[in-house]
Amino acid sequence: MSNIEQTLSIIKPDAVERNLSEEIKNEFNKNKFKIVKEKKVKLEKSDAEKFYQVHQSKPFYNDLCSYLSSGPIVVMILEKENAVLENRKLMGATDPSKAEKGTLRKKYGLSIDKNSVHGSDSVDNAKIEIDFFFNE
Ligand code: CDP
Ligand code: MG
Repeated sequence: MSNIEQTLSIIKPDAVERNLSEEIKNEFNKNKFKIVKEKKVKLEKSDAEKFYQVHQSKPFYNDLCSYLSSGPIVVMILEKENAVLENRKLMGATDPSKAEKGTLRKKYGLSIDKNSVHGSDSVDNAKIEIDFFFNE
């Protein structure tokens, strides 16, 4: 049975700044994700605070929101069979030093905070996150 899903992907400021957007989009294409929608945006800190609301009690919340709003990001809707889980696998662990070989965070991530990509962690959150960026 087919289970086509959509998930939200973000190429974070550290990767956009190093001109890795095209290379990372190629990785999605190579791994059979369809890029359904895409845009480059620069968030206000208040937008980042809303996006990362689930983390508001964490010690890293303020730095995380400052960071996500520190420069342009590329946001994409990715579509594929089991897209949410498949993208999490392609991204690898949150901390690039713990991410498996071949994953995006292993290849491109600089540190746990500058880990190059975001991906929704559930189908429900994917819907919320897609709506956050593409609610036109
Ligand atoms: O992005 P992911 O879902 O893998 O991780 P998360 O636990 O949802 O955390 C969101 C983001 O916060 C991570 O991608 C990291 O950039 C950042 N973070 C951090 O700076 N320090 C931590 N100890 C944990 C997460
Ligand atoms: Mg997360």
